[in-house]
Amino acid sequence: MKRILLSVAFLAFSLHAAQDLIDMAKAAGLKPIPASQAELMKVIEQKDNPLTPEKIQLGKKLYFDPRLSKSGIISCNTCHNLGLGGVDGVPTSVGHRWEPNPHHLNSPTVYNSVFNSVQFWDGRSPHLADQAMGPIQAIPEMALSAETAVARIGSIPAYVKEFERSFSGKDPVTFENIGKAIAAFEATLVTPSRYDDFLNGDTRALSKAEQEGLRTFIEKGCAACHNGIGTGGATMEAFAWEGQYEYADIGDFSGNEDGLVRTPTLRNITETAPYFHNGTVWDLHEAVEIMANIQLGMELTQGEIGSIVTFLEALEGRKPEVVYPMLPASTADTPRPQPFYEHQ
Ligand code: HEC
Ligand code: HEC
Repeated sequence: MKRILLSVAFLAFSLHAAQDLIDMAKAAGLKPIPASQAELMKVIEQKDNPLTPEKIQLGKKLYFDPRLSKSGIISCNTCHNLGLGGVDGVPTSVGHRWEPNPHHLNSPTVYNSVFNSVQFWDGRSPHLADQAMGPIQAIPEMALSAETAVARIGSIPAYVKEFERSFSGKDPVTFENIGKAIAAFEATLVTPSRYDDFLNGDTRALSKAEQEGLRTFIEKGCAACHNGIGTGGATMEAFAWEGQYEYADIGDFSGNEDGLVRTPTLRNITETAPYFHNGTVWDLHEAVEIMANIQLGMELTQGEIGSIVTFLEALEGRKPEVVYPMLPASTADTPRPQPFYEHQ
């Protein structure tokens, strides 16, 4: 009897402790991905770009379609591989004609990018539909002119039909609509995790050790920047408020005009090494240690680092099922790929 009473008391205590931690996390600005589909829709909905099933399906095809690159062999999925955490897994991305990113930038994940308040490491793009038009045209990425992109897609009748179903207006195959369709698909790439279940009230969704890690994460001050639904993605910060990033001179990226870099998401962080804007750190423990040093001016013990990493592992989310799309065939009118020579 005594033992039962004791264990009931213990359970009540740990439920209470878990509820305290949930309150503490919310007070620190951490927010879960909403559990209800209706609430989630409110968060991911986009200005001037209604999310319809037709548009999402079209955007998915375009996301996987290498014909949106000059060479005809690079798609969004080349550098944001949905089977690899939404990244390419190399320090710096490689694009058209094997060109590395000129600033040695690492590809950020597209999973949960819909929660970012601005896009890119320097925050230069306001939203996903605008962002998507960048890499198609960028020389070190897909290197295709907007005009040729529209000509390629517009030469494929099955695509034209899908644009007509997804957008209103005459001649809906425009470069802007290509961006909007891709953005609509990306908005579906959200990955709720056990961490979200916990913040949504399931006090048993995280183990004791993971809860301890979350507490350490908050108490040490990580949530000052890694907050909101994205656990990042919301604020522009100095590269190092309290020290010097050891690998700062790899690549010449210096942030936005104020020298600031956008805080990245920590969701699925175990799948997106190497870390930081220039992809120089492979080990998550080391990344956490560096962060504590240069952002918070503190040395963490190995125990504290391990505890935070245990929490970060729980941010691995449930991915949406992505079935590789069949892409409509090119026609005689489709501008040809130009893998190597300008005159081809
Ligand atoms: C050659 C590799 C490459 C290709 C191809 C590529 N990207 Fe990227 N992507 C990057 C890199 C590198 C960055 C970071 C660049 C920067 O911040 O200036 C990036 C940034 C992004 C971001 C911003 C994410 C964030 O957290 O800020 C999104 C979203 C994105 N890409 C989506 C796409 C889409 C959609 C396509 C296809 C139309 C695409 N990318 C094609 C490498 C690539
Ligand atoms: C003052 C704001 C701030 C604080 C506090 C902060 N971070 Fe960061 N974090 C950033 C920024 C900005 C970056 C991107 C830096 C870069 O790439 O150069 C980043 C990057 C990271 C990365 C690499 C992410 C990736 O995809 O490459 C990890 C992991 C990380 N932070 C974990 C932590 C942990 C754990 C703490 C607490 C010990 C913490 N951060 C504290 C702002 C902060």
